[in-house]
Amino acid sequence: MRASRTKLAPETRRLVTEVYGRLDYGALGPVYCYEGGHEFWRAKRGPCDRLGSRVAVVLRGKLGRGGRSLYVGAGAAELPALIMETVELGRAVEPYNLRRAEVTVLNRACRSIPLTFHAADAVGAKGRFDHLWMVSVLNDPERFPHLSPLSYGRGNPLTLDPLKFDKERRIVRALVARCMGKLARPGLVTTTTEEVIWIAEWCHRHRVPYRVGKRYYPTALVGDPICLIQIGKG
Ligand SMILES: C[S@@+](CC[C@H](N)C(=O)[O-])C[C@H]1O[C@@H](n2cnc3c(N)ncnc32)[C@H](O)[C@@H]1O
Repeated sequence: MRASRTKLAPETRRLVTEVYGRLDYGALGPVYCYEGGHEFWRAKRGPCDRLGSRVAVVLRGKLGRGGRSLYVGAGAAELPALIMETVELGRAVEPYNLRRAEVTVLNRACRSIPLTFHAADAVGAKGRFDHLWMVSVLNDPERFPHLSPLSYGRGNPLTLDPLKFDKERRIVRALVARCMGKLARPGLVTTTTEEVIWIAEWCHRHRVPYRVGKRYYPTALVGDPICLIQIGKG
């Protein structure tokens, strides 16, 4: 089935194009931006497909056949990777997303493939996974308004509320601990350069070796660059 080392297989490409073509961008608009949803998606749909497919090709070279992947906070940008894993590697993928409206749109668009998004907290996922995808979740300004500016190096000492910041940091650490606890070793984490510190901190605390990949891959929606971390390999 693998057509090329640098491209997705034709069947994956066909399904990715089909699913992006079926997404209800009108319904997705308000999920991703407060106004101008159609303009936003007209500009982002192509980059989403192109950049997402590039990461999917990289992941294909890192993941084994038949494993399991936990996707925390997966949305439209994750579609190429999810479809590639399902179609080309025969892996079980479990994407979670707390935005119910987005999950409904994604599941409608994916009806022809065995891919179901869950509108639930990913910490409830059962069993072990050998790949954890967590991209632009721990630095999300909507969910963590007090912590996010620091993640981007934009903290303001005059306005920082240390109590609210500390509360959000505890939530982030707990989410990382619950998800990393489900990761088999050796395992792979796909995350962003801004979120690496949380994974690294967990590895240090648990004396688990990790290696952060030197290559970064741009993303289309949030814009945080993606990197890959090998976990548990000496
Ligand atoms: C800023 S968005 C990023 C979406 C996507 N990964 C991207 O890069 O375009 C953060 C997403 O993480 C989801 N999220 C945050 N915490 C979560 C959790 N514990 N379980 C599942 N989804 C979560 C939110 O619902 C939201 O959809």
